Amino acid sequence: MRALVSCRAVPGAVGEVVATTGLEQNMVNDSHSRRSQGGGPGGGNDAGRAAAAVRVLAALVHRGVVPPDVAREALASGDPGDVLIAHGLCDAARWQEWLEHGGVERPKLTRYELVEQIGQGGQATVWRAKDRKEDGREVALKILRPELAKQAAAVQAFVHEAKTLIELDCEHVVKGLRVAREGETIFFAMQRIDGECLQDALDRDGRLDEEAALRLVRQVALALDHLRGKGLVHRDVKPGNVMVDATGHAWLIDLGFAASAGEGGGNDGGTTAGTVHYIAPEQARGKADLDVRADIYALGATLYHLVTGSLPFAGADNQEVLAKQVLESLSGERIREMDLSQQTHWFIEKMMAKEKEIRFQDPAELVAEIDRFLAQREREAEDEGADPRARMRRRRRRGFR
Ligand SMILES: Nc1ncnc2c1ncn2[C@@H]1O[C@H](COP(=O)(O)OP(=O)(O)O)[C@@H](O)[C@H]1O
Ligand SMILES: [Mg+2]
Repeated sequence: MRALVSCRAVPGAVGEVVATTGLEQNMVNDSHSRRSQGGGPGGGNDAGRAAAAVRVLAALVHRGVVPPDVAREALASGDPGDVLIAHGLCDAARWQEWLEHGGVERPKLTRYELVEQIGQGGQATVWRAKDRKEDGREVALKILRPELAKQAAAVQAFVHEAKTLIELDCEHVVKGLRVAREGETIFFAMQRIDGECLQDALDRDGRLDEEAALRLVRQVALALDHLRGKGLVHRDVKPGNVMVDATGHAWLIDLGFAASAGEGGGNDGGTTAGTVHYIAPEQARGKADLDVRADIYALGATLYHLVTGSLPFAGADNQEVLAKQVLESLSGERIREMDLSQQTHWFIEKMMAKEKEIRFQDPAELVAEIDRFLAQREREAEDEGADPRARMRRRRRRGFR
């Protein structure tokens, strides 16, 4: 079941410990950035600090640094650091370091100076760092979690992701720079994006303006077109894996699940990868021969989330969501509630068609349609500027009162 859900879920012990304390499991194992998880040491409020401590303890149990019973005792005590110190597992300085960095120590690397942690997922932590060999130029360093650095399959997948990002050259795919190992630490450097992931934008703003969302989706479609040209399927397109800067430029990130089109295997042994809320029916069924149309579906689910602020299919658990991806038709109600244009509704319906033959067949087709729509919108806006009565007529035609 776990493999069916997502390779990203932090396995076993983490969930166990947290579950036994009655705290939310997704506090620790969601792969959102650190910011959206509400806290490091300066998490600000008590809830933020408690969530950070839970996350840290879960990571430490998972790494085998803290036995589960000590973690439970620490959680129950309200002062976890003191309990760990009393058990001789760390001193105050180390506990502080763990708190600041989600249960990992800040690695020391010869070439890079790690400045701050800017993201963390199930597989890796991401840091803003300075490249000493390049006059302190800023990069993002993705560092494989120490416990995974001991697992051959995880290392292989991580290096595969790095090499793919280094080889790809597209203005909408984050640029990989270098992959290396230093001591126990396995990491790769990439272009640092000075922005946020769309999941953070959703967490903050609820939803995005329709045209802004379409402009972002268009750029991700260009990234997918590039991947398609290289015979690759991303397999984990979602708001958390798209970053945007202040100018509205978007990048697809996180190729941790990317595999060759038509190949089921890749880095996860042929089981279903991806995040259940966005995956295509054929991916939910664990089909081996995925192609770009599975990514188009996930991008459609992303668009749905961006413009409505809701997930297309909700469920009590991952199994229920997966079943809905396969069986349930998309409800148009939420889209209508949002007063979205018919065209955007159509984009979503077509991208998220259950049958891949009915979807846009390649990302370039989608880009062309979005361009056509945005150009038409622009013409309308110009006309409206020139003639206020035209504005009223158009609004009426679009169903506004
Ligand atoms: N190149 C980058 N520049 C800035 N932030 C990044 C970069 N890559 C990743 N991040 C941040 O780190 C988070 C996790 O990165 P990601 O590659 O998605 O890791 P995971 O495979 O663990 O999900 C992202 O959501 C984002 O907030
Ligand atoms: Mg990610």
